Amino acid sequence: MTAEPFTSEFWRELPEWMGYHREHDPVRAVTLPRVGMGAYLVTRHADVDIALRGPDYLKDPRNIEDIREERGLPGLPFPRKELHTELDDQMSNNDPPTHSRKRGLAHKAFRVRDVETLRPWVRELVESMLDKTLAAPECEFLADFAFPFPMVVIGRLIGVPDADFEPYRELANTMIEHQRGPAVDKARAGMKAFLRDLIQRRREQPENDLLSALIEAEEEGERLTESELVAMLNLLLLAGHETTQNLITNGLLAFIDHPEQYELLRADPSLLHTATEELLRWVSPFAHTQRFTKSDVKLSGCPVSAGEPMVVSIVSANRDPAVFDEPESFLVDREPNPHIAFGRGIHFCLGASLARIEIQEFLSALIERVEKIELTVDRDTLTWRPGVFMRSLSELPVRLVRSAR
Ligand code: HEM
Repeated sequence: MTAEPFTSEFWRELPEWMGYHREHDPVRAVTLPRVGMGAYLVTRHADVDIALRGPDYLKDPRNIEDIREERGLPGLPFPRKELHTELDDQMSNNDPPTHSRKRGLAHKAFRVRDVETLRPWVRELVESMLDKTLAAPECEFLADFAFPFPMVVIGRLIGVPDADFEPYRELANTMIEHQRGPAVDKARAGMKAFLRDLIQRRREQPENDLLSALIEAEEEGERLTESELVAMLNLLLLAGHETTQNLITNGLLAFIDHPEQYELLRADPSLLHTATEELLRWVSPFAHTQRFTKSDVKLSGCPVSAGEPMVVSIVSANRDPAVFDEPESFLVDREPNPHIAFGRGIHFCLGASLARIEIQEFLSALIERVEKIELTVDRDTLTWRPGVFMRSLSELPVRLVRSAR
């Protein structure tokens, strides 16, 4: 296994790479790109489970700065400054008690409206967007459908007015696409101003949307501060969008690679639920997440000292033969399917129910309309974006053949 972790080649070879490491090198030392820092990549399901749920693992890099100093380790290259900015001090980067307080308030806001009531509206949206995509004989599926669909869902749920949608989309797009550099700095400043303005307008005139509920949410006299609201919106907009986009794009590729499974699903739509779970397992779009060791630990017998960054491989855990029969087979009727694509423990995905609705309604609309899915380029020319966390195809040019029904 020669691919350097987190490069485009690594993502292309992912199943083989992970299979080898689960067996031979389950806690492998890697270098994080960009920051150039060492970390441990954890690939076995049992170890991933411990890292996601165990008390010895933290998320907030600020909470291990003292440990690193005590141990004479160099300071972390990224956290202190970045996490103090409004956009980044999100609950997904916090540990208890800060995490528990913010998560409690977010949960309350989500509960105000039963997510299931969004299903008919998501269905309508998926149908109209898919019909538009199908109007052309060929399309670039990522740009034409997989990117805008979840973006519109999360934007509307939060309460981004339709008129503000384009500027918001441009800012978010620049932030996702480029990650660093002057264009990103400009986009981040723009996003902050945009979110602050949105919050201000909702304070003056509440609506029946998630943002108004977040502003109102109160628990034991606590509310989210203005800065916390900005960070929460930024988290929801990005988390609610990029993962689903990658699931849908890589999911379509899974059906291209396994046309018999697409046929099976078309022939028996009662498999929509198991097919959704299998896509989540197979793709695992939030492929890796990050933790830091709080104490000296051992995983699969490998010692890791306190204060070290870990890359926890959800995507590898979801292919671990210790947990799944035939893990390298894509089976739309797989049951049981105890995948952990939405994570585990206190950071378990807040949007899991919404994501499931989006995927189910997408699949349902797709099998109704599309008989055959074909790549319009050679399979070997597809590329994955380099990066640590997300499993993202750069593009997916396809021909969607409409069904006669
Ligand atoms: C296929 C779609 C999705 C997948 C695979 C996914 C996956 C995940 C995973 C693995 C985590 C936990 C990361 C960790 O433990 O470090 C997570 C957290 C989170 N997700 Fe999702 N997600 C998806 C869609 C969504 C959507 C639609 C939303 C928005 C409503 C959302 C909002 C969040 C938030 C807010 C967190 C942070 C929770 C916390 O730190 O307490 N996700 N997601």
